[in-house]
Amino acid sequence: MPVLQLRRSESPLRTSVPEERAPATPFLKWVGGKTSLLPELMKHVPARLRRYHEPFVGGGALFFAVRPRRALLSDSNGELVHCYQQVRDDVYSVLDVLARHVYERTHFESVRALEPSRLAPAERAARFIYLNKTCFNGLWRVNRAGRFNVPFGRYKNPRFADPSSLITASHALRGVEIQCAPFEEACAKAAPGDFVYLDPPYDPVSPTASFASYTAGGFNWEDQRRLAHACIVLNRRGVRFLLSNSATERVRELYSGFEQRIVRAPRFINSKAEGRGRVDELLVFNA
Ligand SMILES: C[S@@+](CC[C@H](N)C(=O)[O-])C[C@H]1O[C@@H](n2cnc3c(N)ncnc32)[C@H](O)[C@@H]1O
Repeated sequence: MPVLQLRRSESPLRTSVPEERAPATPFLKWVGGKTSLLPELMKHVPARLRRYHEPFVGGGALFFAVRPRRALLSDSNGELVHCYQQVRDDVYSVLDVLARHVYERTHFESVRALEPSRLAPAERAARFIYLNKTCFNGLWRVNRAGRFNVPFGRYKNPRFADPSSLITASHALRGVEIQCAPFEEACAKAAPGDFVYLDPPYDPVSPTASFASYTAGGFNWEDQRRLAHACIVLNRRGVRFLLSNSATERVRELYSGFEQRIVRAPRFINSKAEGRGRVDELLVFNA
């Protein structure tokens, strides 16, 4: 028996296949997404790399811009990882389910209340995309029990079923390994000649200006210290890395042994107007 009865609608999904190598962009909205910083980040991606790694993949803005042939993408958000795997392996089923969703508060609330582990794989991935595109500010925030708890968002016409974007993303993900893992486990798989881009939840610039609730555990200062240690290990093993974070004094100190560059980036996560605008971000790298 289906877990949720969705409205059926006609959709010519299977006719809109974009070109194989068309440039890809993220198919999710992701807090801390790096689209606006891409020109700066791209300067640090080696022209030749053995394998590309993103241990905090989120929306994957840099991955989709680079489109490496060999890659390992990871994140500790199991729903996000499942969604990527389904978009890679069975994008048409995901699109079929998405086409039956509707943008309505009561529908949103019933989809949000579903237990993802009880859904069929394509329904589960479609739930993730639908909630991402229709919830408040595209946030993925969970409570301590790991339950998604973001309210309905107000949009004119949210595009949660976008065949061209999803099919292009699916092509970019072909042959890519995607795993749910903490960053240490992901970093341990990088080998000499590989390139690792690390984009963790940022160190807060003020008590109200941060967002680190991507996962039930959050990301605290001890996690930041463990991440800096992981970078030291990558460097020792001959792996090139690029890391982005907020340019706080303590983060700059944490990575004082590495090259650093400050770049300006727009930031929109603070709900208070004064928290929006352009802020300094730090890039750390070892080559
Ligand atoms: C700033 S976002 C990454 C944004 C991404 N670069 C983009 O362009 O959309 C940080 C990501 O780290 C993930 N994350 C948080 N703690 C983690 C951990 N301990 N290990 C691995 N991933 C983690 C979150 O689920 C989130 O997707």
